[in-house]
Amino acid sequence: MKVTVVGAGAVGASCAEYIAIKDFASEVVILDIKEGYAEGKAMDLMQTASLNGFDTKITGSTSDYAKTAGSDIAVITSGIPRKPGMTREELIGINAGIVKTVAMSLIEHSPNVILIVVSNPMDTMTYLAHKVTGLPKNRIIGMGGALDSARFKYRLAEALEAPISDIDGMVIGGHSDTGMVPLASHATRNSIKVSEFIKEDRLQQVVEDTKVGGATLTKLLGTSAWYAPGAAVSALVQAIACDQKKMFPCSTFLEGEYGLNDICIGVPVILGKNGIEKIVDIPLSDAEKAKMKESAEGVSKTNGLLDV
Ligand code: LAC
Repeated sequence: MKVTVVGAGAVGASCAEYIAIKDFASEVVILDIKEGYAEGKAMDLMQTASLNGFDTKITGSTSDYAKTAGSDIAVITSGIPRKPGMTREELIGINAGIVKTVAMSLIEHSPNVILIVVSNPMDTMTYLAHKVTGLPKNRIIGMGGALDSARFKYRLAEALEAPISDIDGMVIGGHSDTGMVPLASHATRNSIKVSEFIKEDRLQQVVEDTKVGGATLTKLLGTSAWYAPGAAVSALVQAIACDQKKMFPCSTFLEGEYGLNDICIGVPVILGKNGIEKIVDIPLSDAEKAKMKESAEGVSKTNGLLDV
């Protein structure tokens, strides 16, 4: 199993590190345009192998896509991250050109690759990758919901004063401050609805904190977060590489599911060796449906800025 990670910045490096530590891939190639940077990150990570106990071979490359040839999975993290006060949507001008070039270069050398898009605005970049590469939709996956759901569970655990492993919950919709739809009414602690443990206003606070999860970290860190994004990507990569058939909310091209068409947005999917093996069309309440529709309108508006 060969995995390429494009972008040796904080998210890309953290993703490569988590993949290596889990030791399920034989090879990880990190690629970056900054001379020597990916090689440096790869060497540094390789020097953790004997300490962390993994055999995954990590190599770096400066813009040489030939080194990525034969990748089974490729993760696109390239582009600029947001700065405090910026929305993810404001990155579209620069990132669209980068994501398009990267996606085309990857499939030129790995025609059977499964792409995971992380660059922001993620749902629109996933849609762009879908349009420009022409790959079947099961092989283009946008990473947002897995991260947002992890942040939702963190906030729920905090509110319930419970261990995170007791909590289950999911965030669908667009990966944006206004577009996320945390499914609060479906969230549970050991199969009991969280609304049994906390009051409605506290649950609403959890929902609001979840939606601005990325912005909160960007303000604290001065740039966008990397540990949870990297861990979320590595979980998706592992689900595909190990054919786990696990369910994650991911951005995927919809053709009528959730009443939506011609859009990539976060919905629950089953991930296995073929990438997205199934879109899970769960029934939503009227309020959730309305939020999903509003979220899709926001993503479509951003998609309208693309030149595709
Ligand atoms: C975040 C970025 C990865 O939410 O979008 O941290």
